[in-house]
Amino acid sequence: MTEPWSPAEIGDLTGRTALVTGPSLGGLGHHTALELARHGARVVLAGRTRAKLDETAQAVRAEVPAAALEKLVVDLASLDSVRRAGQDAAAYGPLHLLVNNAGVMAPAYQRTVDGLELQMATNHFGPFLLTGLLLPQLTESGEGRVVTVSSQMHRRARTAPLDDPRTPRGSYKRWPEYAESKLANLLFTFELDRRARSRGLPVKALAAHPGISGTHLVANGRTGRSAGGLASILDAATKAVSQSAERGAWPVLMAATADLPGGSYCGPGGFGQLSGPPRLVGCTPLARDEMAQRRLWEISEQTVGLTYP
Ligand SMILES: NC(=O)c1ccc[n+]([C@@H]2O[C@H](COP(=O)([O-])OP(=O)(O)OC[C@H]3O[C@@H](n4cnc5c(N)ncnc54)[C@H](OP(=O)(O)O)[C@@H]3O)[C@@H](O)[C@H]2O)c1
Repeated sequence: MTEPWSPAEIGDLTGRTALVTGPSLGGLGHHTALELARHGARVVLAGRTRAKLDETAQAVRAEVPAAALEKLVVDLASLDSVRRAGQDAAAYGPLHLLVNNAGVMAPAYQRTVDGLELQMATNHFGPFLLTGLLLPQLTESGEGRVVTVSSQMHRRARTAPLDDPRTPRGSYKRWPEYAESKLANLLFTFELDRRARSRGLPVKALAAHPGISGTHLVANGRTGRSAGGLASILDAATKAVSQSAERGAWPVLMAATADLPGGSYCGPGGFGQLSGPPRLVGCTPLARDEMAQRRLWEISEQTVGLTYP
C-alpha cells in the first residue's frame, strides 16, 4: 500500500461479493458500490426503498455496463425487516465484504417499532443484527471483512450508550445521540474484530469515516427527504463546504480493500480529517475502552435477540 491511498490501488475484485447498505444516489454508499463494481465485485445494494435501489443500479450501470448488481430491501430501523433481509441474503452465497454505511443524522425524536430511538436503531442496532445474520456467509468466504462507517462526531460522545436502549432518557438531544451512535460504530467494530479473532474466524472488522462529505445526510436528517424545498437548500449548503461524496467514499474503500489489519480505522488525511486522501486515523480513548465495547455488545445481543459470533 502506498500513501496517500487512492482507488487506483484497488485490485481486481472479480469473484467477490460485497453488500453495501444505504446506497441511495449521491451518498457515500452509492459511490462505494460504484467503485467496488468498477473493480469487478458483485455488489448487493441494500436499502429500504426499491425505487431508490433501482435508481442507484441504473446509475452504476451507466458507468459500469457489465456491473453485477443485486438488490436487497432492508429497513435497518426495523429488526423484523433486518431479519427478513438476513433470510433473503442467504441466496447470495459467500460474502467477502459487508459495508455498514446506512445512517441517519440528528433527526427529530422518534422511537422505532422496536421501541428504540431512531438514530441508535438505524446506526447501531440494525447493523449489529444484520452483521450477525450475515456472519456465516462472511465466514464462508474465507476472508470476510466488515467495514462500518463512523464519524469524527464520535469524539463528541461523553459516554458510551450503555443504558437500557428501550427506556427513554430525559429530553432527547439529537446531536449527543448521533455522537453516541457513531461511537457505538467504533465500539462494535473493535469488539467484533476481537471476538472473531479469538474464535479463529476468517473475518476482520474495520471502520472508516468520510470527514465532511457532500451527501444528503443533513437534508435527510432535518427534513426526512433528500430533495425539494428546504432539503435542496440544505443539500446545496452542505456541498458548498464539503469534499465530494465520491472522495468521502475513499476512506471506506480503503478500509474495504487495502491490506490492513482488523481494527484499523481510516479517515481523510487533510486538516482536521475533514477532507483529503485517506490514511489510518485515531479515535478517542472511549472508543478503545474494552469494557464499554463488551458491555455494548451484550446490550446489543439482548436488544436484537441474537448472540454471536
Ligand atoms: N456525509 C458526511 O459528511 C458524513 C460524515 C460522517 C459520517 N457519515 C456517515 O456516512 C454514512 C452514510 O451517510 P451519507 O453521508 O451518505 O448520507 P445519505 O446521503 O443521507 O445516505 C444515507 C443512506 O442511509 C440510508 N438509510 C437511512 N435510514 C435507513 C434505514 N432505516 N434503513 C436503511 N437505510 C437507511 C439512506 O436511505 P434513504 O435514501 O432511503 O433515506 C441512504 O441510502 C452514515 O452512516 C453517516 O453517519 C457521513
